[in-house]
Amino acid sequence: MLWLFRFFTASIGRKFLMALTGLGFILFLGTHLAGNLLLYRGGNAFNAYAARLHAFGGLLMVFEFGLLVFALIHVLFGLWLFYENYRARPIGYRVRKSGPGQTWGSATMPYTGLLILAFVVYHLIRFHFADKTSVTIYEIVKNAFQSPLEIAIYMVAMAAVALHISHGFWSAFQTLGANHPKYMPLIRGLGLIFSVVVGIGFGFIPIYMTLV
Ligand code: HEM
Repeated sequence: MLWLFRFFTASIGRKFLMALTGLGFILFLGTHLAGNLLLYRGGNAFNAYAARLHAFGGLLMVFEFGLLVFALIHVLFGLWLFYENYRARPIGYRVRKSGPGQTWGSATMPYTGLLILAFVVYHLIRFHFADKTSVTIYEIVKNAFQSPLEIAIYMVAMAAVALHISHGFWSAFQTLGANHPKYMPLIRGLGLIFSVVVGIGFGFIPIYMTLV
């Protein structure tokens, strides 16, 4: 058991866990987006979908607990990595700000990560833990997006999510060993497509909700 603990707290093990939990979130985002697309079909369709989800009861709670554990691992190990990189930075002489192969996505990973964390806490308070005794979940979402401030918060958060995934997607595959020169361009391309789909897919919902 000790070897397992040693592996997961060593640099390579931590990166491995970050990659696994990151891919877990990518799966979650894909299904969450698919469910949210029902907002385009109106209140009845979306509320029925939410009711079907909540009918899973204990199973849903297990899934939510899993998401929380994944989030804790991903955030804590991400902060640890950020701190280590910060301490290892060269001091005392001029360094190039951006290295070869660095992209906007890779350079901003810790900042977009923290922004997403703040967004998710806000998002859960706003929607998941909202009082649903007298209003439906569709009405809660619709009411939220009547405020320009709330729409702006979502736009900024969705841009951060898209940027984070544009690097995180292929980087996770690379960490898990899929860095074959033949497949990497394909994985990078898929990551880029997924980040654009997530950014536009989620980002258009607040705008649409002001129109209906
Ligand atoms: C326009 C974009 C989005 C909308 C309209 C939306 C809507 C919702 C709603 C209505 C719920 C509550 C479901 C319920 O309790 O019945 C929810 C839960 C949640 N959302 Fe979102 N969401 C959006 C984007 C995101 C993004 C980008 C993330 C992650 C980065 C995210 C993470 C979550 C999580 C973790 C939950 C809790 C899931 C659960 O408890 O099963 N959402 N969302």
